[in-house]
Amino acid sequence: MPNTINQNIKPFNTKRNQQGNLEISGCDTVSLAKKYGTPLYVMDEVTLRKIAREYKDAFSSYKKVNMMFASKALMTSQIAKILHEEGFGFDVVSGGEIFTVHNANVDMNYATFNGNNKTSDEIELALNLNVGRISVDNFYEIKLLDEIAKKKNKIQKILLRITPGIECHTHEYIQTGHLDSKFGFDLTQIDEAVNLIKNECKNLEIKGLHAHIGSQIFETQVYYDEIGVLIKELKRINEVHNLNLDEMNIGGGLGITYTSEDCPPSVYELADVILKSIKENCAKYNFDEPVLYIEPGRSIVGTSGVTLYTIGSYKQVPKGRKYIAVDGGMADNPRPSMYGAKYLAEIANKKENETFEKVTVAGRFCESGDILIKDIELNSPETGDILCVYNTGAYGYSMSSNYNRVLKPAMVLVNCGQSDIIIKRETYEQLVQNDVLH
Ligand code: LLP
Repeated sequence: MPNTINQNIKPFNTKRNQQGNLEISGCDTVSLAKKYGTPLYVMDEVTLRKIAREYKDAFSSYKKVNMMFASKALMTSQIAKILHEEGFGFDVVSGGEIFTVHNANVDMNYATFNGNNKTSDEIELALNLNVGRISVDNFYEIKLLDEIAKKKNKIQKILLRITPGIECHTHEYIQTGHLDSKFGFDLTQIDEAVNLIKNECKNLEIKGLHAHIGSQIFETQVYYDEIGVLIKELKRINEVHNLNLDEMNIGGGLGITYTSEDCPPSVYELADVILKSIKENCAKYNFDEPVLYIEPGRSIVGTSGVTLYTIGSYKQVPKGRKYIAVDGGMADNPRPSMYGAKYLAEIANKKENETFEKVTVAGRFCESGDILIKDIELNSPETGDILCVYNTGAYGYSMSSNYNRVLKPAMVLVNCGQSDIIIKRETYEQLVQNDVLH
């Protein structure tokens, strides 16, 4: 089976140009840093469209599939526009994500609203904009949603979010499918939830089940097992409650290659297991093949993105580490300090054949834990060099903050030698615009 983008560390067309500078999709990263400033998020449109097409291709033999990009990984109006052009819908988890997808002129019927504590305002917005599905997470929400839908005289199509009881080997904070989770109904609560919907919620129409087992997943067996649980439950619910549920949303989670230690399966291997599980479990439980929703986030946008920083100060601890500090850090990428996440980086403005030195890349924020990369071999790093950190497209910008009142970086989209700003760099004026001074 062919390799896919999520198995690469670098964007599709990354190389050294004649000057020895790092070039991504025909754009010299050193020139990008000069033109747009640093820190700078760079997204490669070619890589992004390529992985989106790999997903579509891998699942093309299954006619009833809906690709839903998990917006939480990276949501900007332009990213939504591109992925919608590639045939993706959207998993959205907040009013802000709903509003951004809508702002990109996406037909909101292609969106699913997820989350364990959606507010009334967010639910109203979702209903006003005709969001296609709402994945209902708990008993409180069933009643709240029905009330709001009744007020608006609407019938809302829903999925029930369940915890299938599948443990996967990933960071504890990003595991979600195990039983002791804040998300969704326990398997033993499904009948009570379905009864409540059927008997008391005239403005809700249940279409199927939703689950998500975790993120940065490297094994495919967990998907096989998850689908087994979902199909078994769909069949059982239809029999017990005389319903005709035929939709199954299996969440996201496919891993990517941050460093050579990571070995995620390809999108084709993932699709193979998912489609095999559907076939075998449908045969086992005598169930018609359901409508499939899949919600990848990280594996769609991760590899397309890099972050460019400028190296400033440095410090040699006597008989210890050498630190080099960049002009960003935990506010533009909190993953290393939150999860101990590892990244690969290169000096963008130096040829690969110079002298390498082991250093630790520190951020600029006032916290000892603000270390971007521990112990990495870099090409004679010096003040003024541009550092390119790979694989920052997912959960970097989307989890960024204004810690220390540092401005959020700009994001630029590159494509075959062309570069365009898709998020402007924040300004000090914007930083204080919501401050109220008495
Ligand atoms: N669907 C649901 C219901 C989810 O909760 C998530 C991620 C996804 C889909 C997309 O999962 P992905 O394909 O991106 O793995 N901030 C963490 C990741 C948190 C993921 C939360 N849910 C990180 O930076 O690693």
